[in-house]
Amino acid sequence: MNQQQKCVVITGGSRGLGLAIIHRLFEAGYAVATCSRHPTPELQALIEQHGSSSLLWVPAAIGDEAEEAAFFAAVIEWAGPRTVHALINNAAVAQDGILATLPNVDSTRIIEVNLLGSLRMSRLALRHMLGARRGGRIINISSIIGSRGYTGLAAYSASKAGLDGLTRALAREVGRRQITVNSVAPGYLETDMSAGLEQRQRAQIINRTPLGRLGTVHDVSPLVMFLLSEEAGFITGQTLTVDGGISC
Ligand SMILES: NC(=O)c1ccc[n+]([C@@H]2O[C@H](COP(=O)([O-])OP(=O)(O)OC[C@H]3O[C@@H](n4cnc5c(N)ncnc54)[C@H](OP(=O)(O)O)[C@@H]3O)[C@@H](O)[C@H]2O)c1
Repeated sequence: MNQQQKCVVITGGSRGLGLAIIHRLFEAGYAVATCSRHPTPELQALIEQHGSSSLLWVPAAIGDEAEEAAFFAAVIEWAGPRTVHALINNAAVAQDGILATLPNVDSTRIIEVNLLGSLRMSRLALRHMLGARRGGRIINISSIIGSRGYTGLAAYSASKAGLDGLTRALAREVGRRQITVNSVAPGYLETDMSAGLEQRQRAQIINRTPLGRLGTVHDVSPLVMFLLSEEAGFITGQTLTVDGGISC
């Protein structure tokens, strides 16, 4: 094990944006710990390729406090003497449905996973980072829907707006300890999460986007990598938008 190697923790790394970020993290030389509820062949292949000391996957559900704590405990044991440099709160769920008819249990689950899970994971990571006294990074994957809203996504929108509030408050709390906290807010991305968009909705989104297309995970992952870097050390408390201009 390379004791100088920095570790990054990212939730929901089995597919979509999380998996794309993991690929970039390896290119940059980080060791990576991730969780999701289910494994994927892509993640298994990465573990075989890079080895279990470079990539830890734990089956854990964000939104379940005990599973979050068990995941983070496994991360600390796996990291050993290496520094946990960053937490990326990426795991999220979205469920379409107008609020008046969406069962409360579904809205509660969205808030539990997207907002409270990220808040509790941030708390675990911060306790570790503050103790280690080496600074660090927290990146919350938000959404433009947090500031713009979208019909049928009220709970999701509220969860992402809450996440942006968490970003600003934590940035103030831990800035003096050289820990930066930022949100990255993508527009509509081509992933499983947006696969349910109807053709009509897709066409409307593309039509309203100055750059004339939906985003991809490769449009967003470079910004995440920049925020992890030394060069981004004076950026904190911000929500940075990557949306082809749709919200401008
Ligand atoms: N796609 C978009 O259009 C879009 C736009 C703006 C923002 N975003 C944000 O970008 C982030 C990534 O989205 P994505 O499009 O990559 O989503 P995705 O393709 O649906 O992937 C979600 C990832 O999170 C994991 N996950 C979901 N619920 C989880 C839970 N409770 N506990 C642990 N892991 C969980 C999934 O694995 P399992 O299902 O196996 O748990 C998967 O690895 C999210 O925060 C999302 O809100 C997406």
